[in-house]
Amino acid sequence: MTTSWSDPAVCAGFDEYADIPEQVLGYRTVFNALELARPERLRVLDYGCGPGKVSERVARRFGKPVLAVDSSATMLDIARRKRPHPLVEYRHISDSLVGLVEDHSMDVAMTCYVFINIGSEPLIRRIVQEVYRTLKPGGSYAILDTNPDTTGVEFSTFRNGAPGRRYRHGEQREVLLRVPGKNEHLVLLDHHWPKEMYLSALRDAGFRSIDFLQPTLSSLPREEVQPPGPPGVTEWRSEWTTPPFIIFKATK
Ligand SMILES: C[S@@+](CC[C@H](N)C(=O)[O-])C[C@H]1O[C@@H](n2cnc3c(N)ncnc32)[C@H](O)[C@@H]1O
Repeated sequence: MTTSWSDPAVCAGFDEYADIPEQVLGYRTVFNALELARPERLRVLDYGCGPGKVSERVARRFGKPVLAVDSSATMLDIARRKRPHPLVEYRHISDSLVGLVEDHSMDVAMTCYVFINIGSEPLIRRIVQEVYRTLKPGGSYAILDTNPDTTGVEFSTFRNGAPGRRYRHGEQREVLLRVPGKNEHLVLLDHHWPKEMYLSALRDAGFRSIDFLQPTLSSLPREEVQPPGPPGVTEWRSEWTTPPFIIFKATK
């Protein structure tokens, strides 16, 4: 069993989760890697947009049109209701962009915390190939996921996997998210994909200039590091020295 992204309670819990570590150490790195501020970065694909938090931020901060796609109608319903934006188009998909996005039409693409939710490596590879198809030559792609090498570590708002456990390729691991105002964790079931899986999926799809990042708070300029802030979580934890996320950047 994997997390059910059609379950309204799961979708609402994820929507309420205050994604502060993700913003500071994940999405910001993705936005920088994709150079979203550059004027020629015109069309953005957000594959697996969930409740639209990231798509809406890209539209608001960078003024770029975003095609935000997801396989969960429940998530898209939250996104359309809570994060409508004139530059964001939310669309439902079933593992393919065929018929929705033409070849070589996107400038940049991202998949944030999507592949950890997919239990099938062939499906992940198909999605990476599909993203490759839709990007223009020279277009950039970023993948952001939780770090398979820091399972069991307590971060300020989540723990990914159990302490002391080692996970096999594709194995399920439990993720505990602290949701503001809730006494119980939101429990998700992710899949464990070693870094090599991402690298080979990108290489085999045809991507080049593949780069890999795993920032910690210590690696950021001091002025960019504020206390995490969500109610009930006022201090950073292992994020100072242990990278909670991995980011792959690649070029078509
Ligand atoms: C953890 S949420 C992340 C949402 C968003 N990217 C973010 O960072 O806030 C994972 C999302 O991936 C979507 N997803 C999972 N498998 C998918 C697939 N095969 N195709 C499209 N979306 C998928 C889920 O429906 C869910 O909305």
